[in-house]
Amino acid sequence: MTVTEASVPSVPPRDPNRTPILQARNLVKTFGRVVGLDGVSLDLYPGEVLAIIGDNGAGKSTLIKCLTGAEIPDEGQILLSGEQVHFKRPQDARTHGIETVYQNLAVSPALDVASNLYLGREERLSNIFGKLFRVLDTNGMRKRAKEELTRLGISTLQDVTVAVENLSGGQRQAVAVARAAAFGSKVVVLDEPTAALGVRESNQVLQLVRDLRDRGLPVILISHNMPHVFDVADRIHIQRLGKCAATITPESHNMTDAVAIMTGAATA
Ligand SMILES: Nc1ncnc2c1ncn2[C@@H]1O[C@H](COP(=O)(O)OP(=O)(O)O)[C@@H](O)[C@H]1O
Ligand SMILES: [Mg+2]
Repeated sequence: MTVTEASVPSVPPRDPNRTPILQARNLVKTFGRVVGLDGVSLDLYPGEVLAIIGDNGAGKSTLIKCLTGAEIPDEGQILLSGEQVHFKRPQDARTHGIETVYQNLAVSPALDVASNLYLGREERLSNIFGKLFRVLDTNGMRKRAKEELTRLGISTLQDVTVAVENLSGGQRQAVAVARAAAFGSKVVVLDEPTAALGVRESNQVLQLVRDLRDRGLPVILISHNMPHVFDVADRIHIQRLGKCAATITPESHNMTDAVAIMTGAATA
């Protein structure tokens, strides 16, 4: 690693000919006088894990919120498969296939696995009971939930009728990730998915992230855990003081380098 101003701040993705699925161009977001994002660009390519790291206050959450419709940027563009999009609320991003697992898990403990997967997109019976009395198609949802879990390669959740409160922390996280990855989503955003997990469970979630990537689904992973980031990420976007300080890869830089760029002790 060189510590010169002139060094190239970005490493190209594995296949530069591919079109990014998701692009951010010069996003600016201010909160009164506080600058949350100061002209941040980002490319997410098909089938890659892009990690976002940075110190507290560096703008990681604001960046993710702008990409997932939870905040509206003041300036800049967001493009999905090359087309500009304007998300006004998280549901807009979901409709476009961008699913987010926020740090405080959005699973309902009392509901079973299948109901959690279908949370917010419940299916009714197609007969008169469904139409008139809004009766849920529980069996149908369970069947399709199982099929989705199989398709996603999630083997840790065998029984979709188990209440989520009876699952381990890692399995709950798997439910949340499965919910985000299921039903035709295009991009999965995970905010600190291993923060509350033990070593074995973290490894399961990291394997799940790799599996999603290998099935072609790109993942944005926000994490403070350098070993996890270096273990699973294809590229690493480093936020510092509201800007992207560098985009590196586990091959181009080591963890010490990444921390140095994060803290401003070095440039890429
Ligand atoms: N809703 C908000 N109101 C005021 N300031 C905010 C708000 N959200 C974020 N900020 C500020 O923007 C900056 C970036 O914050 P954030 O994106 O949460 O950083 P990170 O997630 O990297 O810790 C910080 O200075 C933070 O205090
Ligand atoms: Mg944050």
